[in-house]
Amino acid sequence: MGNYEIAVIRGDGIGPEVIEEGVKVLDAAQRRFGIGFTYTEFPWGSDYYFQHGRMMDANGLDELKGFDAIFFGAVGHPDIQDHVTLNGLLLPMRRGFDQYVCQRPSILLPGVTSPLRGMESGDIDMVVIRENTEGEYANVGGFQYKGFPEEVAVQTSVFTRRGIERVVRYSFELARSRNKKRRLASITKSNAQGYGMVLWDQVFDQVAAEYPDIETESLLVDAACINFIRRPQSFDVVVASNQFGDVLTDIGAIITGSMGLAPSGNINPERAFPSVFEPVHGSAPDIAGKGIANPMATVFSSAMMLRHLGETESADAVDDAVESVLRDGETMPVDLGGAASTQAIGDAIVSALEQG
Ligand code: NAD
Ligand code: IPM
Ligand code: MN
Repeated sequence: MGNYEIAVIRGDGIGPEVIEEGVKVLDAAQRRFGIGFTYTEFPWGSDYYFQHGRMMDANGLDELKGFDAIFFGAVGHPDIQDHVTLNGLLLPMRRGFDQYVCQRPSILLPGVTSPLRGMESGDIDMVVIRENTEGEYANVGGFQYKGFPEEVAVQTSVFTRRGIERVVRYSFELARSRNKKRRLASITKSNAQGYGMVLWDQVFDQVAAEYPDIETESLLVDAACINFIRRPQSFDVVVASNQFGDVLTDIGAIITGSMGLAPSGNINPERAFPSVFEPVHGSAPDIAGKGIANPMATVFSSAMMLRHLGETESADAVDDAVESVLRDGETMPVDLGGAASTQAIGDAIVSALEQG
């Protein structure tokens, strides 16, 4: 089994609380499977900003570049504008490390009740692949006439043939390797946005021709929102632009139980740079410090990290441990109707993992 250098960025709000449990579970996985993790903590985030006027070191990406993976909590603080916190830490990693795939599975697990009537465990089992470096999140734009009544803000989306093609191709390959419904849905808004989204549709159709074994559909994002609610069981792999993928994965999280269960990987498939594994949720200031955050999303993200590192057996064991806690129903998080603390859930996952 391998040895890995892991960068740990706990961040803000519930970030440190859920990462604490994530590291606890990774430690249990190390013990059971003989993996060697060396963690390096980076105290970056909003507290760091209050002290240093920046979210991370000026050469932060250089410091992170040599790690095998980055385990990330969340950032966002009520006293700092979100574009400052996110553009100061998380988004530079996604763009600067060319993590063009954001992989976000949504699975309705046994023991979890969907808010959608009639949904049973296993009925929802999909993965959203979100383009993660360009599109609506390209950091292109600016202000003009700042502070004047005629103030103007320009925010430009950037869609490139190369950027679309690589994420679409990844999604087709995933639909093939999952070997489940062998379906890929592509989400745009090309009826209204006649340039970037049209290029996306064209590239999708071109790549689709190489994958005749994968059934495809192209949906406009508003209709996709309907169908995530109306027929979530029909989706297998879904590929979407950066912003549409952001919104759709919050829907994916809630229809499969909670934000507290949804994991995410910001992946550079070529492995030229480290990938970042984090829950889909944010810093949740409304529940921070109360000890009630659900750490399962973070633990599932740690399993995605293990899988990315090639530690498949331990990744499966971590997933199984969380799933057994959910199935068992004794130690249920508050967001799923239980009363267990963040720490108690981490402990229950560890003991399930130790029992194998
Ligand atoms: P959020 O995801 O933090 O919270 C949304 C809702 O889900 C809240 O009611 C919260 O209590 C609940 N929730 C989230 N995670 C939970 C968990 N693990 N267990 C139980 N309940 C949970 O989204 P928000 O409120 O829109 O954003 C809060 C801050 O986080 C903002 O500053 C935002 O910019 C930031 N944010 C950061 C990231 C990130 O770092 N990756 C992601 C999303 C939002
Ligand atoms: C997410 C978050 C981020 C995003 C924010 C915090 C910039 O919502 O990871 O889903 O929109 O990508
Ligand atoms: Mn989001």
